[in-house]
Amino acid sequence: MIISIIAAMSKNRVIGNGLEIPWKIKGEQKRFKELTIGKTIVMGRKTYNSIGKALPYRTNFVISKSINNIKDCDVFSSLENVIEYCSGNLDELFIIGGGTIYKQALPYIDKIYLTVINKEFNGDVFFPEFEKDFEIEGIPKVINGDISYTYYTYVRKK
Ligand SMILES: NC(=O)c1ccc[n+]([C@@H]2O[C@H](COP(=O)([O-])OP(=O)(O)OC[C@H]3O[C@@H](n4cnc5c(N)ncnc54)[C@H](OP(=O)(O)O)[C@@H]3O)[C@@H](O)[C@H]2O)c1
Repeated sequence: MIISIIAAMSKNRVIGNGLEIPWKIKGEQKRFKELTIGKTIVMGRKTYNSIGKALPYRTNFVISKSINNIKDCDVFSSLENVIEYCSGNLDELFIIGGGTIYKQALPYIDKIYLTVINKEFNGDVFFPEFEKDFEIEGIPKVINGDISYTYYTYVRKK
C-alpha cells in the first residue's frame, strides 16, 4: 500500500481559515475527485465537520478522540490505527487533511498530490514544509483562469 496526501494550498501555504477553505475556484477540485472516487480517504474530525458529510463513492475514515460515531464513516482514534487497519488491504490510502493530519502523516507519506493556487490568502491552517524530502514527479500541469493553479505530484526522494 502506498500512502498519499492530497491537498490544495495557496502561494503562502494556507489550506484553511477556521473550518473553511478560503477560495472557491471552479474546476480546482477536479483532480481530487478523479483520484479519490472509489478509494479510501482519511480526514481529521475538523475537516469532516467542514465538509459536513461523508464524501460519496469513497470509504470515509475520520480521526478523532472526542467522537466515536459519525454517519457513513468509520472513526479511528489515531492515524497509526488507520494505517495499520488498511495496510495489506489497499493499493493507495489518501490522506485528505486538514493541517494537523497532514503534519502527522508526513513521515508515512510516499506521494503528495498538491494543487498550488497562484494567489495569497488569509488563513490560520497551513500545509507543512515537506520540500526537502520530496521531489516533483512528471510535469506540473498549469490551469489558467481568473486565479490560476498548478497540479503537482511529489514523491519521496530515494
Ligand atoms: N486546502 C485543502 O486541501 C484542505 C483539505 C482539508 C482540510 N482543509 C482545511 O483544513 C482545516 C482543518 O484542519 P485542522 O488542522 O484545523 O483540523 P483537522 O486536521 O481536520 O482535524 C483536527 C482534529 O482531528 C483529530 N485528530 C488529529 N490528530 C489526532 C490524533 N493523533 N489522534 C486522534 N485524533 C486526532 C482531533 O479531533 P477531536 O478534536 O475530535 O479529537 C482534532 O481536533 C479547515 O479549514 C479545512 O477547510 C483544507
